[in-house]
Amino acid sequence: MKNNSGLFIWAHRGASAFAPENTIAAFHVAEKMGADGIELDIRLSSEGVPVVIHDPRVDRTSDSTGLVHGKTVAELKRLDMGGWMAPKFRGEPIPTLEDVLIWLDNRMTVNIELKLPRAMPPVLTLLQKYPQARALVSCFKHPVLEIHPELPRGFLTESRFWRRALNRAIRSGATAFHPREDRVTPGMVQEAHRAGLKVFPFTVDDPQQAERFCRWGVDGIFTNRLFPQVDTDRTHDTV
Ligand code: G3P
Ligand code: MG
Repeated sequence: MKNNSGLFIWAHRGASAFAPENTIAAFHVAEKMGADGIELDIRLSSEGVPVVIHDPRVDRTSDSTGLVHGKTVAELKRLDMGGWMAPKFRGEPIPTLEDVLIWLDNRMTVNIELKLPRAMPPVLTLLQKYPQARALVSCFKHPVLEIHPELPRGFLTESRFWRRALNRAIRSGATAFHPREDRVTPGMVQEAHRAGLKVFPFTVDDPQQAERFCRWGVDGIFTNRLFPQVDTDRTHDTV
């Protein structure tokens, strides 16, 4: 662990409070700010190439409109994914997962969140091509995780019926349980730990909540902004 809290700090979509989410710029800032790992979201281009973007459409985070899977990688690469946040980020491109794995090498852990279960096969191909990547694969759709016991996996849930998801994670030998932050209880953390799973709630941007989770024994958090070294000069906090 690089930080004093003992929590493993996952930069959610990169350091997304300080740089445009799911871009290399955001991953770079996360590394500079002392994150332990980065989280990113995967969708597919029209050719089936894994690209890093959260929404099914490009509208919110680019200068264009349309469905991600309606565009080729070449078309997606022409979009500006940074100008919406601040002029200094204008021209920041969408990364493919391969771009990120090359950039990352083995410097930080990466949590690859599949927004679509059908993204699993091309993601696996890339993980085989870049074996140095330290990847934890997560998804809200659990069957796609259950059929890949060979992978480090995180089971995501937003549900207040979280026990169902936790039991599935335990039965399938998952690495971690990723509950929405408002679902976490001390009992949940104990149950997960008894079964050998880590608990990483998302998305924790309130320092008091992070402290509470620390007391409850949570292993780490996904955060947009709670990084060990917050340096506003270097991190573009003023947008
Ligand atoms: O992986 C944690 C978190 O990213 C899940 O929700 O919508 O931010 O991708 P979302
Ligand atoms: Mg995500």
